Amino acid sequence: MNNPKPIVVANLKANLTWEEVSTWLDKVGQVSKNFKGTIIFCPSYPFLQAAREKIGKESINVHLGSQDISRFEQGAFTGEVAANQISDLVDYAIIGHSERRQNFKEDDQTLKDKVEKAKSKSIEPIFCIQNEKTMIPDQVSIIAYEPVFAIGTGNPETPENIESIGQKLKAKGQCTILYGGSVSQENVKSFVDKQSVDGVLVGATNSLDPQKFVAILDALK
Ligand code: PGA
Repeated sequence: MNNPKPIVVANLKANLTWEEVSTWLDKVGQVSKNFKGTIIFCPSYPFLQAAREKIGKESINVHLGSQDISRFEQGAFTGEVAANQISDLVDYAIIGHSERRQNFKEDDQTLKDKVEKAKSKSIEPIFCIQNEKTMIPDQVSIIAYEPVFAIGTGNPETPENIESIGQKLKAKGQCTILYGGSVSQENVKSFVDKQSVDGVLVGATNSLDPQKFVAILDALK
């Protein structure tokens, strides 16, 4: 991926209304103009279309991503959203988040299928791994290391351990490495300063309030 670094992903999860999402884009949009890296915003599916329009109309320097994608082609799959339905709205899709693995029992084969479907429509997967042993499909080039103990707990992984995993992943091939789990304005620089780390994935703890997210961007200036 050729976008400038650091990459900062906001994963809103199942939070916020359109009004709040719109305010988020207003606030983050103001500072995104002067941000040297890449911001990837992942709200819930229903807001992608309106967010895309707002980003275009107001020239906001933010890319859009989905929080998931169907493993199936368009068709008789009630409740699913297929890659070809959102490929003109998003550039990225988070795949394999630990909350999907735990709550929706997504296994390696399901996640492989999702990566394939995303790639087939030119959507770049942001593939989440929970530890060094997590299976990573071949086509993946953005990996987010997100240990479960660090998610939403205020107890992040150490920069040293992240670096060690990042180095090992990079030794296997060209890839972009993100870290996610209790990222805050206070600790973000300690992760991004590590050589193998190209950015962060910020979940509900510090992405829902646009001021907190802006503070993370400011800390990376
Ligand atoms: P958190 O979540 O930033 O709230 O810890 C990270 C994530 O779920 O990706």
